[in-house]
Amino acid sequence: MRGWTLATLALAGTAMATSLMPGLVGGAMAQAPVPSAAAPQARPWMDARLSPDRRADLLLAAMTLDEKVALLHGPMAMPFGPFKLPEGAVGSAGFIPGNARLGIPALNESDASLGVTNPMLVRGVEDVATPLPSSLMLASTFNPQIAFAGGAMVGAEARAKGLNVQLAGGANLLRDPRGGRNFEYVGEDPLLAGIMAGEAIRGIQSTGMVSTVKHFSLNDQEHKRMTVDAVIGEAAHRESDLLAFQIAIERGDPGSVMCAYNMINGVYACEDDQLLNKTLKQDWNYQGWVMSDWGAVHSLEAFVRGLDQQSGEQLDRQVFFGQPLRDGVAAGRIPPARLDDAARRVLRAMFAHGLFDKPPVRGAIDFAGHAAVAQRQAEEGIVLLRNDGILPLAKTARRIAVIGAHAEVGVPSGMGSSQVTAPYRESALVPLRTVPIGGEGQMATWANVTFHPSPPLAAIRARMDPAVDGAAAASPLTPPAPSRVSFDPGIYPAAAAQEARAAELAIVFVYQPSSEGDDVPDMSLPFGQDALIEAVAAANPNTIVVLQTGNPVRMPWADKVKAVVQGWYSGARGGEAIARVLFGEVNPSGRLPMTWPVDESQLPRPVIPGWGEPAETIVRVDYDIEGSDVGYRWFARENRTPRYWFGHGLSYTAFTQTNLSVKGGATVVASVDVTNNGARAGKDVVQLYLTARPGGAARRLLAFEKVELAPGETRRVTLTADPRLLAAFDEKAHGWRIDAGEYEVGVGENAGEIALRKSVRLSAGRRKP
Ligand code: BGC
Repeated sequence: MRGWTLATLALAGTAMATSLMPGLVGGAMAQAPVPSAAAPQARPWMDARLSPDRRADLLLAAMTLDEKVALLHGPMAMPFGPFKLPEGAVGSAGFIPGNARLGIPALNESDASLGVTNPMLVRGVEDVATPLPSSLMLASTFNPQIAFAGGAMVGAEARAKGLNVQLAGGANLLRDPRGGRNFEYVGEDPLLAGIMAGEAIRGIQSTGMVSTVKHFSLNDQEHKRMTVDAVIGEAAHRESDLLAFQIAIERGDPGSVMCAYNMINGVYACEDDQLLNKTLKQDWNYQGWVMSDWGAVHSLEAFVRGLDQQSGEQLDRQVFFGQPLRDGVAAGRIPPARLDDAARRVLRAMFAHGLFDKPPVRGAIDFAGHAAVAQRQAEEGIVLLRNDGILPLAKTARRIAVIGAHAEVGVPSGMGSSQVTAPYRESALVPLRTVPIGGEGQMATWANVTFHPSPPLAAIRARMDPAVDGAAAASPLTPPAPSRVSFDPGIYPAAAAQEARAAELAIVFVYQPSSEGDDVPDMSLPFGQDALIEAVAAANPNTIVVLQTGNPVRMPWADKVKAVVQGWYSGARGGEAIARVLFGEVNPSGRLPMTWPVDESQLPRPVIPGWGEPAETIVRVDYDIEGSDVGYRWFARENRTPRYWFGHGLSYTAFTQTNLSVKGGATVVASVDVTNNGARAGKDVVQLYLTARPGGAARRLLAFEKVELAPGETRRVTLTADPRLLAAFDEKAHGWRIDAGEYEVGVGENAGEIALRKSVRLSAGRRKP
């Protein structure tokens, strides 16, 4: 069934289910086997006082060969094409059957980082969940507590649906601002990405779930993702993408790691001995299990090279980890100790994260409370990119023209397996492309941009026309009271310009769809929206642009507008969050988690590798061009000036950072005074960077902290660098190496403006990989 792998997995979108297979939605809701109350001596592993290791050993000793093998592979958990919902499955992305004899619960595995999905509406149309903002927006908060809270919310919803594994923790680095899945990831910097992904994972698992971290590793390009060969040297990999995963694993302790579709230096990630056995399991001493991405297994060999479990098995050429694995062990080709190791890893993680002791309990979801979690993420993740003083808006404005991007309906979301069905029925679907999904003439409009129904227009009107908004119409025939906020859909620039001309100020909403399964071809806004902005800005000098994009975009009109607000994909309460920032009810504090290039010519790869080549071509992506200098590190190294640096983001108040002091030795400890000089309370993100080391210039984020300050308040903030960010990875010595000598570090408002710098002496140091 190889043909199902590529596009179709990204299609877990609900729209496809309704348009293509209405008869198949709404699956059986059979309960997964749960541990029965057998006598404790019969199931000694159920003694929760024992360690997860001990419990896993006891259970493993009771298992037959077939029972161990059964734990190591499983199907998709949705009725998809010829496949039925597996018996006993709750219905989600994947399923590993339980074992009634031994009381092993089934694994019901659901996507993803942004909330609990309902692929193909397998659990019925009424089964909805709270959509969080994009993970890139989460990363923009620079606030680990917000990541934890979002994870805990997702975990609670998953459990209320009977699920126990969340396929979350997207931690791939943003190496290309056209990446179709960047919205599921946490930016370009290994420290920020590792901390934010790690905290989100910790939040999910705090509820009694297993979370993954994914997609291990270098799944940084979606275009031709199944045939991409990511080429990179070991040190560069260790100092970039691997460091993000390493930090995420240290902080989050995910029960499972999902390996990626792509190859790394010519070897598939899911059968890469160096990646899985040597780096993850030996160097990092990772105790959990490695599951494959859906359709990423190419051989039984993968098993000895470190993959423990084959997921979504129908998507592969063969169920390698079923009969072939059993035969391999029986014939002595696969060491029995390796089989035990794989099964033990699954069981140990299940014990460690509560899957035996705290089975999920189906129940009601607190949608209002959870929407508040999503809203808080959005409010702290909105980035004020530019402001000529027009923001915050005065509620006294005579007339505001709101234009474009379906702002009357809601806020856009990213597409693919992470897309959440929001708890409202009226989501607008904008078909983007149609995709053949196999069989005679079957086409699915799966690439639908779903707008979560939190319309910015209504939120703006509620502030401008409180009386109008609150007044119920006397009868359907009563004309609505006139609003001070007009709306134009932005389809015809001339019509939008006319609305803008009649208003005191214009707010143009624009959007960029992006999806799992492919990258966007370039950095321009689609649908003629650049021309729309130009026309509106020419008609009204007080024009504000609200970007709702998965990625940075070109902004040829940047100097013609008064303010630009990055609203990302803002989730369940995005419209409300955007309006609160526009009107100053929330002081913006989001910072860019990636560098914003002027255009593609500034990138290490101006053209996406493999673009325009035939489908099955092996696409070599040379990451050694930038090596570990991803994003701002590359711009600094190449002396290029982006439109906005990593870390950039404005506030309605003004901060200053003074009195930097630094201490050296084994690592850098820096302290700085941060003062709020403005009239409003606000949050600043203190960022500590390496700027030079004995070999020459280098730019790396060493530590960061978000601080909230009242007007006039000063606080001394102390930051300690993770020594790995000061070090180089020494391939020969197989570990991190800090050379003794003079280093220069600094603090600043973003990676390009590091105003305060100090040199500091570090002693030589080594650290295990
Ligand atoms: C995606 C994974 C996802 C899996 C299951 C794959 O296509 O890459 O992120 O967890 O499908 O839906």
